[in-house]
Amino acid sequence: MTSIETELAPLEFSVTKNLAARSAAQRDEILQNPGFGSTFTDHMVDICWSARGGWHRPRVQPYGPIALDPAAAVLHYGQEIFEGIKAYRHADGSIHTFRPDQNAARLQRSARRMALPELPAEYFIQSLRELIAVDGAWTPSGEDQSLYLRPFMFAKEAFLGVRPAQKVAYYVIASPAGSYFSGGVKPVRIWLSETYARAGRGGTGAAKTGGNYASSLLPQAEAAEKGCDQVVFLDQDGNVEELGGMNVVFVYKDGRIVTPQSDSILEGITRNSLLQLAEDRGHTVERRAVSLNEWRDGVASGDIVEVFACGTAAVVTPIGTLVAEGFEDEQPRGDLALSLREELTDIQYGRREDKHGWLYRLDA
Ligand code: PLP
Ligand code: COI
Repeated sequence: MTSIETELAPLEFSVTKNLAARSAAQRDEILQNPGFGSTFTDHMVDICWSARGGWHRPRVQPYGPIALDPAAAVLHYGQEIFEGIKAYRHADGSIHTFRPDQNAARLQRSARRMALPELPAEYFIQSLRELIAVDGAWTPSGEDQSLYLRPFMFAKEAFLGVRPAQKVAYYVIASPAGSYFSGGVKPVRIWLSETYARAGRGGTGAAKTGGNYASSLLPQAEAAEKGCDQVVFLDQDGNVEELGGMNVVFVYKDGRIVTPQSDSILEGITRNSLLQLAEDRGHTVERRAVSLNEWRDGVASGDIVEVFACGTAAVVTPIGTLVAEGFEDEQPRGDLALSLREELTDIQYGRREDKHGWLYRLDA
């Protein structure tokens, strides 16, 4: 079990129940086929922060619209960060999440980069627990289903000057989730964006901040036009970075596993966990720059035997085809990605021993 060192006293959350909460029957109908990211539970958590008062007014309240001053800084300058983490229902009914200390730490790193306040890890974890305490029944139990938790933080101070906001809001909402890609786990077609970049040296690529995703939408639309599911971005030197919402991993014939490393990539918790599981099996892992040429040549020569993408929402997805202006490279098919996926999800759903102590029980 993940244990969190607690130095801070827990926050005292006020709880206002949603009087219009869905019935058990309505909820069960939604949980039959939740899709991804389009239905939400009955409650949300929020905590306020001000430069003067620090973290205060922790609440659980009915899910609903947020009233914002039209001058709220987030609406103008995009000072915003978020996380994505899932809650998994085990066979005995208990509800667990996966490495929340890692998401808490990443939210803090994102906060530093975006000049937002750092939410203590204890408060982060407590915020997830508070939401599960009221909405745990929304955690589905079907295969590959989960309750996707979306913590986020934004600048709410009404001020048009460009400086870090002195009033900030932190929220957590939850959304029952099935497969991220509508076709389930099948190899995806990836569009290589050579016109647009996701991040730049010294930019915000390593932070989970809305602007990175906003800037990926146009290339993503271009990808869709080319019949692709996702975009892969390169850095200014022609090295592979990542997809719009997933990290990339290459498997070599000699068993090495290589994944891009740079300051402009989002450090994925799924990727780190899969690489740890691969190391446990005896694979050597290299975190380093991987150029597009290394990728294409490796596939052509047979040195690269598998390429996959990974992230919380989509878990592990084999890359089937790399498409660009002027070429279309079929990617080799192997079975490591799916075998690591199975091992990871077995741990997450409590079907296999959690040797690394990655699970954290949310409902007890
Ligand atoms: N890269 C980007 C841009 C992402 O949005 C995500 C998803 O969170 C990831 C990588 C994978 O990160 P994680 O495995 O922590 O979900
Ligand atoms: C996640 O995998 O949790 C993500 O945040 C990716 C995407 C939904 C933005």
